[in-house]
Amino acid sequence: MRLLAITILFFMLLDTMLLQTLAHQDLPSAERVPRLNMKFDSWRMKLSWDCEENTTYLECVMIHKENGPITIIPQEKECHCEFSDYSLHDGVTLMVKVNSTQRPIPETLVYANSGGNGTAAQNFSCFIYNANFMNCSWAKGQAAPDDVQYFLYIRDSRKRRERECPHYIEDSGTHVGCHLEDLSGLTNYNYFLVNGTSQRTGVQFFDSVLSWKKIGSSHHRLYSHRSRASKTSG
Ligand SMILES: *[C@@H]1O[C@H](CO)[C@@H](O)[C@H](O)[C@H]1NC(C)=O
Ligand SMILES: *[C@@H]1O[C@H](CO)[C@@H](O)[C@H](O)[C@H]1NC(C)=O
Ligand SMILES: *[C@@H]1O[C@H](CO)[C@@H](O)[C@H](O)[C@H]1NC(C)=O
Ligand SMILES: *[C@@H]1O[C@H](CO)[C@@H](O)[C@H](O)[C@H]1NC(C)=O
Ligand SMILES: *[C@@H]1O[C@H](CO)[C@@H](O)[C@H](O)[C@H]1NC(C)=O
Ligand SMILES: *[C@@H]1O[C@H](CO)[C@@H](O)[C@H](O)[C@H]1NC(C)=O
Repeated sequence: MRLLAITILFFMLLDTMLLQTLAHQDLPSAERVPRLNMKFDSWRMKLSWDCEENTTYLECVMIHKENGPITIIPQEKECHCEFSDYSLHDGVTLMVKVNSTQRPIPETLVYANSGGNGTAAQNFSCFIYNANFMNCSWAKGQAAPDDVQYFLYIRDSRKRRERECPHYIEDSGTHVGCHLEDLSGLTNYNYFLVNGTSQRTGVQFFDSVLSWKKIGSSHHRLYSHRSRASKTSG
């Protein structure tokens, strides 16, 4: 009998808890937030959402760990924003602010670097030699499984020319570098992405925006943010 009473009490408690969480979830929808169904194309840095009639979109915001909030005002009646190149491997939060009668209401999308921690390629760097050859190299992530395979993709900042590495440098079958003999179409800043696959686990990506500008000498190395940071701290 007592057990039954306790059980009923427990269920009553559970019920009120449930009601409370439901009430909390109801709060934002009471403001009539449009469900924008936001999508983020990380390769093109393009945020898009479902257009809704009679809705104006005030701004798109990317909250970046290193660079802070980056704001873009979308064109009128356009339901997308294209950001310039930023590294995304630490994850970003994306927002679209919708105009409403009361105030701008943001809708948020969290873009995370999915996959196992420590599986991404590390110590990524590139250098140009003989004026128009480039070699890039990286190391296996310390927690990457044995069967990991990495792929390098390069895109110019105008998003006109994108390519996969044409000639990988391997270490026991794993891609750990890239040799390029055609640097045409590359701009002052270019976006580099190393992603990967494995049968056993999701593999995180590493990406970086590297500057071409100061390359004149063959000794000039382009280091990614992360390897530079670990160099100065170590
Ligand atoms: C959009 O606004 C117009 C004019 O105010 C109105 O006639 C129409 O019903 C609205 N459409 C929607 C989907 O709310
Ligand atoms: C936002 O909405 C209000 C009310 O509908 C309108 O008066 C205002 O012009 C809108 N602002 C922008 C920037 O669209
Ligand atoms: C991966 O690392 C992040 C940040 O270092 C941490 O928040 C997260 O819980 C870790 N994930 C796993 C599955 O260990
Ligand atoms: C990556 O770079 C760090 C710092 O320069 C170094 O300590 C580490 O051994 C390197 N890891 C690999 C796998 O090369
Ligand atoms: C660049 O990589 C290629 C292919 O592995 C190699 O033959 C060449 O020696 C490397 N160049 C330099 C300067 O390390
Ligand atoms: C790596 O990124 C490129 C460019 O976005 C994409 O085409 C490719 O499918 C990705 N590969 C993996 C294994 O995620």
